[in-house]
Amino acid sequence: MTIKSIFKISAGISFIFLSLLMVTGWGLGGGYIPSDSEAFSSILYLRNMGGVGQMIRSLHFYLSSSLIISGFIFLISFYILGYVSRFTKQWYFSLIIYFLIVGSCFTGYLLPMDQNAFWGTLVRLGIVETIPFFGTFIANILRGGLTIGSETLSRFFTIHSSIIPIFLSVISLVLIQSQWENIKLIVSRASILYGTILGVILLYYWAFSFSAPLELPANPIDVEYIPRPEWYFLWLFEFGKYVEWAPWIRSALLPLLGTLFLFGLPFIKQQSSKQRYTIAITWCSVWLILTGITLYADRNLPDKLDYEAAMFVEAKENYQSLCYDCHGSTGKGDGPQSKTFSLESPDFTLMAYWDQTSNDQIIKAIKDGKGEDMPDFKKKLSQQQIEELLNMMKISYRPKY
Ligand code: HEC
Repeated sequence: MTIKSIFKISAGISFIFLSLLMVTGWGLGGGYIPSDSEAFSSILYLRNMGGVGQMIRSLHFYLSSSLIISGFIFLISFYILGYVSRFTKQWYFSLIIYFLIVGSCFTGYLLPMDQNAFWGTLVRLGIVETIPFFGTFIANILRGGLTIGSETLSRFFTIHSSIIPIFLSVISLVLIQSQWENIKLIVSRASILYGTILGVILLYYWAFSFSAPLELPANPIDVEYIPRPEWYFLWLFEFGKYVEWAPWIRSALLPLLGTLFLFGLPFIKQQSSKQRYTIAITWCSVWLILTGITLYADRNLPDKLDYEAAMFVEAKENYQSLCYDCHGSTGKGDGPQSKTFSLESPDFTLMAYWDQTSNDQIIKAIKDGKGEDMPDFKKKLSQQQIEELLNMMKISYRPKY
């Protein structure tokens, strides 16, 4: 495959990804509630519903990563082909589009309001704050105050769902219009059409099979949580470690030099094709090496648990600390306290127990207590945690036919 065909294909694919992102974004906008208290549950609702809602969210999530890659390949091949000074206007438009896409990722990251979203955004805004002179000012505008809260969410949501898409659409349309003759030529090929259809089908299949991650809801007091940036920002994260003594190098100098370099490219003396290759390969290698080092350094970090898995773990922990004493580790009702005081606690491992007891009855017993000895837990556990306990007990103790 020649660089020229890579260039064309990555342009086409990026355009398709961008369009699908807009469409799935509209779909998500229908169910999403940008408020502190409801953002997470609206996403959880989509997730639990499964089916199309869940798929739209997953598609949106995977498409954003895919667009970062395809756009990157497009820009790199644009440069290697030496088109930068010949098509300066298109180069600028493409760069602006790419920056807007990165801005979308930055703002979209917060919207699910799970642990990762909250802590990740906290770290990023912290980086913004290290920009000399303007940092705190910019961070406060983005946050809408001193802490991340409802105000931040509604600002990020507005930037993510209205401001950036409007600019993106207008600039993309101008770019497309300026290349319309070429685009018509490319699109008219049958192989492109079939390739696209196949790609879109694969993508849908992927989104159906692997749902986008969602962790526990944001918990601003859980300071032990270790957020990790998206894979495409890992290199910046690694780079930050080397300039901890002067964080502005990462937050201001590097972006400034990077932007100047990219926008200045058309005015730099024409390099030979070999030089361009060398520069492009060097950039990619630096990216790969820094990303590799971070991944290696973090290889022992515990895996991030998805919502369901994390809730299950939490329910197990709650059972261990609150219920084990009486109900025992196997749910037979033979915990140490039961034995000492010979309490009549039920045996959760009997099918007969589950046949006779409804979910509501169990939830009520945990909430309000039962009989002489079963204490109430409505102050210690939320409704969600109680439901999760029930779920965990069913999975762990109820006999399987
Ligand atoms: C101090 C001991 C004790 C602790 C702690 C305790 N239970 Fe119980 N639990 C009992 C006893 C005794 C009963 C039987 C009450 C009865 O039927 O009169 C019981 C009954 C139950 C029942 C049966 C309710 C029904 O209607 O069949 C459930 C479910 C249950 N407990 C869940 C839990 C869970 C979950 C926890 C922890 C969050 C917990 N219990 C903590 C002693 C305890």
